[in-house]
Amino acid sequence: MKKRFNVKTVALSTALLGSAVFLAGCSGDTEEAKTAAAPAAEQNTMDVKQPVPVAAPKAALQPAPAPAPVAEVPAAVEEKVEEVKEVVAAVAAPSGEKAYATCVGCHGAKGEGGVGPRLNNQTVDDVVAKLEKYKAGEQVGPMTGMMAPMAAGLSAEDMKVIAEYVTTL
Ligand code: HEC
Repeated sequence: MKKRFNVKTVALSTALLGSAVFLAGCSGDTEEAKTAAAPAAEQNTMDVKQPVPVAAPKAALQPAPAPAPVAEVPAAVEEKVEEVKEVVAAVAAPSGEKAYATCVGCHGAKGEGGVGPRLNNQTVDDVVAKLEKYKAGEQVGPMTGMMAPMAAGLSAEDMKVIAEYVTTL
């Protein structure tokens, strides 16, 4: 009986002592650990974050020397670029010849006149001025009714381009 009792009290007392020491030790340690660990953790995050944004731009800027090989190309490519530019300009610009094609039937392939008056002996300004009158619905000559619909769809640029073309035929 005595042995059992002794064993229990010893076990209890050691357990209480141990927990008391543990609590005392813990409370002291955690405060120290918190104050000591906080600045260390901040420093670590600073150290980790800094290199990331710095490293990325460096890698992205590195391929910059790419233009170097372009300097070798122009001699061969420049001629073709000019050819393409000419073709594009020809297609994009309003063509007097093409626009005048709808007028040929009445004014002649050379603007010499036919159903309509001769045009190739007139000035650019005269031709444009007359086309503007037809487009505006004004009466120009006795056959204005035949010509007016032809001018109605022409823009100011169309008129200029056609006049410049037909007056030099
Ligand atoms: C269906 C025939 C016909 C077509 C197509 C035609 N015209 Fe005419 N055009 C005439 C006739 C007819 C007159 C004279 C009208 C009048 O009496 O005012 C005329 C007059 C003109 C005049 C005035 C000439 C002058 O000295 O008075 C101009 C400029 C003219 N046409 C330009 C054009 C142009 C540019 C086109 C093509 C976009 C065109 N015409 C298409 C029949 C035509």
